[in-house]
Amino acid sequence: MRAAHDIAEAATTLASLAEAVAAFDGCALRRTATTTVFADGNPGARLMLIGEAPGAEEDRLGKPFVGRSGQLLDRMLATIGIDRSSAYITNVLFWRPPGNRKPTPGEIAACLPFVLRHIALVRPAIVMLCGGTATSALLGVSEGITRLRGRWFDLAVPGLEQPVPTIATYHPSYLLRSPERKREAWRDLLAVQARLESA
Ligand code: URA
Repeated sequence: MRAAHDIAEAATTLASLAEAVAAFDGCALRRTATTTVFADGNPGARLMLIGEAPGAEEDRLGKPFVGRSGQLLDRMLATIGIDRSSAYITNVLFWRPPGNRKPTPGEIAACLPFVLRHIALVRPAIVMLCGGTATSALLGVSEGITRLRGRWFDLAVPGLEQPVPTIATYHPSYLLRSPERKREAWRDLLAVQARLESA
């Protein structure tokens, strides 16, 4: 099996990356999932959102964030005038973990080269990481999301000359369980809006 890194690097378009991910045999979740969930939205958008992993609805429909948490995400984005024609959405895992369990570090590591290549090919102005799993996977930090959210980080991505301004926020499924945190997520969205306007 060719290393994930080499396979990902060889993809020079989003279409070829999507094909390479769908054919990738190095993450066992692919065998239990129904579909590969690659991305949704506009690949030309300036904002790229990265969540955790597909759930049941996403696995059924082959698109990220189409279940209950996706509907909340859409409503949150609408408050800053963004929809799926002005955002690009993906996850750090392309396959649903059985029963929606937490992804393992090995599963995350297996997919990470593809996620980094995904960012390099989209070249977003801003990345927004939704939840602790995406945040620790991409930023390599171990602090909890409560401490990390609302802060800007420079995300170094192989193949991009400049780091990508990246902000972390709560995962919408956490907000469904803890609606009192929505106020903070709203502040994070306003920070994204301000940065998009100034960039
Ligand atoms: N949760 C995620 O992190 N991603 C999805 O696509 C759906 C739910």
